[in-house]
Amino acid sequence: MRYLLGIDVGTSGTKTALFDECGNTIKTSTHEYELFQPQVGWAEQNPENWWTACVKGIREVIEKSKIDPLDIKGIGISGQMHGLVLIDKEYKVIRNSIIWCDQRTEKECTQITDTIGKEKLIRITGNPALTGFTLSKLLWVRNNEPDNYKRIYKVLLPKDYIRFKLTGVFAAEVSDASGTQMLDINTRNWSEELLDDLRIDKNILPDVYESVVVSGCVIEKASKETKLAVNTPVVGGAGDQAAGAIGNGIVREGLISTVIGTSGVVFAATDTPRFDSKGRVHTLCHAVPNKWHIMGVTQGAGLSLNWFKRTFCAKEILESKEAGINIYDLLTEKASQSKPGSNGIIYLPYLMGERTPHIDPNVKGAFLGISLINNHNDFVRSILEGVGFSLKNCLDIIENMKVNIEEIRVSGGGAESSIWRQILSDIFNYELTTVKASEGPALGVAILAGVGAGIYNSVEEACDKIVKGNEKVMPNANLIEVYSKVYEVYNSAYPKIKDI
Ligand code: XUL
Repeated sequence: MRYLLGIDVGTSGTKTALFDECGNTIKTSTHEYELFQPQVGWAEQNPENWWTACVKGIREVIEKSKIDPLDIKGIGISGQMHGLVLIDKEYKVIRNSIIWCDQRTEKECTQITDTIGKEKLIRITGNPALTGFTLSKLLWVRNNEPDNYKRIYKVLLPKDYIRFKLTGVFAAEVSDASGTQMLDINTRNWSEELLDDLRIDKNILPDVYESVVVSGCVIEKASKETKLAVNTPVVGGAGDQAAGAIGNGIVREGLISTVIGTSGVVFAATDTPRFDSKGRVHTLCHAVPNKWHIMGVTQGAGLSLNWFKRTFCAKEILESKEAGINIYDLLTEKASQSKPGSNGIIYLPYLMGERTPHIDPNVKGAFLGISLINNHNDFVRSILEGVGFSLKNCLDIIENMKVNIEEIRVSGGGAESSIWRQILSDIFNYELTTVKASEGPALGVAILAGVGAGIYNSVEEACDKIVKGNEKVMPNANLIEVYSKVYEVYNSAYPKIKDI
C-alpha cells in the first residue's frame, strides 16, 4: 500500500495525518502550542513551536501506524495563512511570527493603498489592503523594527517554514502566496510592479510553485528528527482554506464550502479570477492549477465559542469532565435548550476585528439585547447564531457575484456539532452536505501530494474518488421568518456600534 502524509500547521496546533492512497485516515496526531498577545489586537506565535509540534506528530503517526516510512510517497503541507515568518542569512528566525489574526497594521494598509491605489491593488492582488495579510505585516516591521527588517534574508509563510525545515528549500505555492498580497493572482507569480512601487526587494521572497508541484525532498537532518525517509517528496501544498476546500471536494464552479474553524469561511471555486469591487471577499489562486477561489472570512468563528468557554464556562468545564463528554458537545447541547433568536440576544463575533463584510480591524464584539430572562444557554446559542449570521453575510456577497451555487458542503471543528450545523442551515436557508473528510486541510494537501507523486492524475480525479458527501442537513421551513427578522437586526447593528 502507498501512503500520503498531510500536515496542517494550524493556529491552536499542528495536525499530522497519514492516509492510504484511497484517502482512508490511518493515524492522526495533534500537538498544540501557545498564541502570544503582547497587546490588544496583536497575535504572534513562535515558528520553532510549529516545528516541534510537527516533529512530534510525524514521529507519532509513523510509530503508531507501524508503516515503513519508505511507503510514504508524498507529503503535503497546509497551514494558517498570511503569517509573517522572517529568516536571516544564517537561516534563523528573526522574531516571532505575526500571524493572520493580528490587527496592528492599519497604518501600513493606508500606506499600501496610498502608494498603489485601491483599484489597482484589487486588480493585481484580488484584495484591498488588509491588516491580516502578510504585506502589511512586512511593512509594519520595516516601519517599526528597522533593525529586524535589515536582517531579512527570506520572508516565509507558516507552512513554508515547515517546508524549509523538512527540505532545506525556500519555496511558496500559489494559494498561500496570494494571501500575502504580493502575488499577481492573474499571472500566479510575484508582482514585480507592486514590489517595486513599495520598494520591497523581490529576492527576499521564495520561488513560487503550483500547489501540486514537488518543491523539494526530505533532507537527512529532518529525516533523523522525524523518522521520515530521506528524499520523500514534499509538494507545494496549500493555505489551510484552499487545502480544506480540496478536502471537501470544492474543485469546480458550483461547489461551495463553509467551514467553522477558528475563523469561519465561505469558499467558492471559480474558473477565472472574480472580484468584488468593494473587496469584501478575498479573491485568491486556488490550489488546483488554473482555478481561483473567492472566500468570505469571519475572523472569530470557533474562536468565539472557545473564548466564551475559557472566560465564562468554569462550571460547564467541570460538568463535562465529570460526565466524560466533550465541553463543546455540552455547550452546543445547552444552546439547543434556548430558542431560535436566543431569547433576544444578538452576538456580534468581532473579537479580532472583522474581514467580511466589514473590513474593520478595530470593531469589537458585542452581546446586544440582554434582558432579565436570559440565561447561560441563550448566550451560548447567540454565539452559534452570530457566527451563522456572519457566514451568511459571506454567502450573500458570493451569491450577489452571480456565482452558481449547486451544493454547499460544511466542515470544520464547529460543524462537528449537529446543533451548530442545523443552525447554519436554518440561517442560510440552504441544504448543507457534511463531508466524510474530517481531516480537512490535512486531507486536502495529502491529495495534492498524491497528484505530485503521480498516484492521481489530477486534483479533480482524486476528489471524485476520495471525497464522499455524507449526511444532509435540511433547513427548517418554520424558522425562515424568525431568522430573517433576526438577521435584519444583526445587519443593522454594525453601523450603530462601530464607532463606540
Ligand atoms: C484565511 C485565514 C484563516 C487562517 C487561519 O484567510 O486568515 O483561515 O488561515 O486558519
